[in-house]
Amino acid sequence: MRFDGKVGIVTGGASGIGRATAIGFARRGGTVIVADHSERGAKAVAAEIAGFGGKAEPIKIDVTKEADIRSAVALASRQFGRLDFMHNNAYAFGRGWEPTLTGDFKDEFWDYAVNIGLTAVFRGTRAALAVMRDQGSGSIVNTASISGLFAEVKNSAYNAVKAGVINFTRAVAREYGPFGIRANSICPGVIATPPVLQMAADPQRRKAFEQKVPLRRMGQPEELANVVLFLASDLASYVTGAAYVCDGGLTLASNVEFN
Ligand SMILES: NC(=O)c1ccc[n+]([C@@H]2O[C@H](COP(=O)([O-])OP(=O)(O)OC[C@H]3O[C@@H](n4cnc5c(N)ncnc54)[C@H](O)[C@@H]3O)[C@@H](O)[C@H]2O)c1
Repeated sequence: MRFDGKVGIVTGGASGIGRATAIGFARRGGTVIVADHSERGAKAVAAEIAGFGGKAEPIKIDVTKEADIRSAVALASRQFGRLDFMHNNAYAFGRGWEPTLTGDFKDEFWDYAVNIGLTAVFRGTRAALAVMRDQGSGSIVNTASISGLFAEVKNSAYNAVKAGVINFTRAVAREYGPFGIRANSICPGVIATPPVLQMAADPQRRKAFEQKVPLRRMGQPEELANVVLFLASDLASYVTGAAYVCDGGLTLASNVEFN
């Protein structure tokens, strides 16, 4: 799997899944724009990539601002003349968010979840499509979640937003397949990224969770990135509209047991 001559943008590229994807894309010869809210984080990842001889450009963007998303895509087309891979991946729970039943959920957290989780994915996709359509090629990978396939308690906004990402991506795949553009989403299970490691800091809590996973552990960001990069690559040339689950088997259970 190589990306020589290809240009990609990874939002949320400073940490976790996005960081691993940006590094993996550059390690395989691609030029990556590391787009993140954290300027320091984006610069650090770009420096890490430069350290192994890869090509990366950091850019500070807030994906909830349309102009920022456009500026990342403009950077790709202005500086590198193309855009082959768009990974709409950034997400954060709003400051002060905590698990809450729907009846008590505040508008501000709902609006924030929709803006960062769904509207930003739409805008990132729209901006990328403009370049990819002219090129007649491109691969968009949107980060959804197993939370977009199943229902959780006290997490309904995230459930709704990530389900939206999955079906939005399918619609894009239908519309733009005829133009040589593929669009897929990925559905991570529980992946050991900084926010998750913070939540699972208590070893007993972590162990109890890992017992529910057939592979008996959390996923590593690189294991997720491998799937994203496959979808970005020509190896996935006949894959579009898929929602790829990568969860160590966490969501396999029917909960009907015979022993
Ligand atoms: N880690 C998991 O278990 C898991 C599971 C399912 C889905 N996901 C999804 O994977 C994606 C990445 O999550 P992660 O676990 O790697 O998180 P992370 O916190 O490690 O990385 C997220 C990155 O997004 C950036 N970011 C936050 N708000 C931003 C904004 N407004 N504009 C630009 N950048 C912003 C952060 O600075 C950070 O670098 C998210 O879409 C998340 O919903 C993660």
